[in-house]
Amino acid sequence: MIKVGIIGGSGYTGLELIKLLLNHPKTEIGFVSSRQYKGKSVQEVFPAFINSAFKGQFCDPASIPNLNEADLVFTALPHKSSLETVPSLLDKGLKVIDLSADFRLRKIADYESYYGAHTASDLLKEAVYGVPELHRDKIKTATLVANPGCYAITSILGLAPMADNSHLNSMVIIDAKSGVSGAGRTPSVETSFVETNENFRPYKVATHRHIPEIEQELGLLSGSKDIRVTFVPHLLPLNRGILATMYMPSGGLTEEEVYDIYKTFYKEEPFIRLLPRDKLPNLSYVRGSNYCDISLKLDTRSGNIIIMAAIDNLGKGASSNAIQNLNLLFGLPETTGLLPPLYP
Ligand SMILES: NC(=O)c1ccc[n+]([C@@H]2O[C@H](COP(=O)([O-])OP(=O)(O)OC[C@H]3O[C@@H](n4cnc5c(N)ncnc54)[C@H](OP(=O)(O)O)[C@@H]3O)[C@@H](O)[C@H]2O)c1
Repeated sequence: MIKVGIIGGSGYTGLELIKLLLNHPKTEIGFVSSRQYKGKSVQEVFPAFINSAFKGQFCDPASIPNLNEADLVFTALPHKSSLETVPSLLDKGLKVIDLSADFRLRKIADYESYYGAHTASDLLKEAVYGVPELHRDKIKTATLVANPGCYAITSILGLAPMADNSHLNSMVIIDAKSGVSGAGRTPSVETSFVETNENFRPYKVATHRHIPEIEQELGLLSGSKDIRVTFVPHLLPLNRGILATMYMPSGGLTEEEVYDIYKTFYKEEPFIRLLPRDKLPNLSYVRGSNYCDISLKLDTRSGNIIIMAAIDNLGKGASSNAIQNLNLLFGLPETTGLLPPLYP
């Protein structure tokens, strides 16, 4: 069995990891940390896990018992906290899948302009950006996987085939909507019930922190072209799910040709579902799963191609994608332990 620990196990992505690891036939949970719940049983704090196979307590992240017995640690921490935690885990010879933004950007200047000073920049060369559909071979041999941001992976998967075929330029617009769990479990006024329920609003217009990740990966696929995206996130009054609608000039391509580009690029990817031509993505089709559903439409009047992509932000946008990366790291079939959508 692969022994796995979670640092930051009481947040939304950490809890989703516990759920998925309990279902995974080849892993066993060694420890789960939380400062506020240290010493308390996971089942007591989160009754959703009553009667589950994990009977452990939250441990203090500053003194983790059995740390040296772990084969892999998930760091499900806010950015900056991972910067402090990950280097010492790697020094102990552990493999790490980090869910924060701290190791996702190759250029330190990109990190510092969106997040502030980086104190472990030597690790940026070593970290592999954890989109299996793009970096599968590198992930297999990585010691540090930087799991992508939730808006970022939606946008990247939605646009990658166009970037890879040199059809993408900076005319692309990404109009993305996320459920509130995307902001994590720490309470804030902006994400409180009264501010979000029966409401819908844009935020961080053209300044969101996932922009440099999206541009980094689409630029790489485009042959190092300088791709600039117009990115507008919105907050949906839902618990989970991201739907991004992306617009770009078709450059004379027919809808059939665009479909062929996507079919060729994604071939037999287990978690990318290019939907039939008469179907559109719904968040309810992907909830709880590792799927990214994609649909395409050519607007013959404007000449724009419209690409729609849907994921679960805690699934393909975070924890189930991290499990897919674990499967790659340990030579398991990529689908091991991953769940079907929770529909309806
Ligand atoms: N939510 C999403 O949809 C999503 C998607 C993709 C990526 N991410 C990224 O994944 C990471 C985790 O997100 P989340 O939504 O799970 O956040 P969260 O709900 O706020 O949980 C954060 C976890 O980290 C612990 N923690 C916070 N500060 C810590 C510190 N200084 N040292 C040790 N532990 C600390 C918290 O527990 P204690 O405070 O009790 O220690 C908690 O368990 C973030 O970097 C986020 O940006 C989130």
